[in-house]
Amino acid sequence: MKNAFSTAAALLLTLSACHTRPEPEHRRYFHTEVKPVLEMQCLRCHAGPTPPAGLSLEHRDGGAYIRRADGRAFIVPGRPAQSLLIQSISRGGTHPRLMPLLEVSLTDDQIGALTEWIEDGAWWPRGPEGLLRAQPNPENP
Ligand code: HEC
Repeated sequence: MKNAFSTAAALLLTLSACHTRPEPEHRRYFHTEVKPVLEMQCLRCHAGPTPPAGLSLEHRDGGAYIRRADGRAFIVPGRPAQSLLIQSISRGGTHPRLMPLLEVSLTDDQIGALTEWIEDGAWWPRGPEGLLRAQPNPENP
């Protein structure tokens, strides 16, 4: 009995350490928490053929996951603190220019959502499901 219990406990620890979540949960989180923030707050600048800092957020192959020459990346799945995207939106961080470059910065909830998303592996599908389009931002018209 004791053995069965510790095996189950070890399994649970392993699962939570890997942030293993079922795919529908990743999908739901991406569509309800992540996509609206990127579309409203970032896409008006980070899109098109020559996006600032070489970062297009229109789809997952727009440069966000690519390691740059200095070894850093905008998104490092599982490592929000190392992700330039998170550094760029964190108030009081070390980053010189707070994103978005707009009047009103992100709310704590929005920063938290992007941070949790990257911590959980930054799930972002290829194909039409993962295509983002700029949406109006009432806070920064
Ligand atoms: C109004 C335009 C504008 C918006 C909106 C905007 N950015 Fe930027 N972003 C820029 C410009 C311009 C640069 C490059 C110049 C610079 O780094 O100051 C940049 C650079 C960056 C960089 C690179 C920083 C680095 O260290 O190389 C990141 C990451 C970034 N933006 C993320 C975001 C995210 C995430 C959002 C949405 C929350 C966002 N940006 C919204 C204009 C914008």
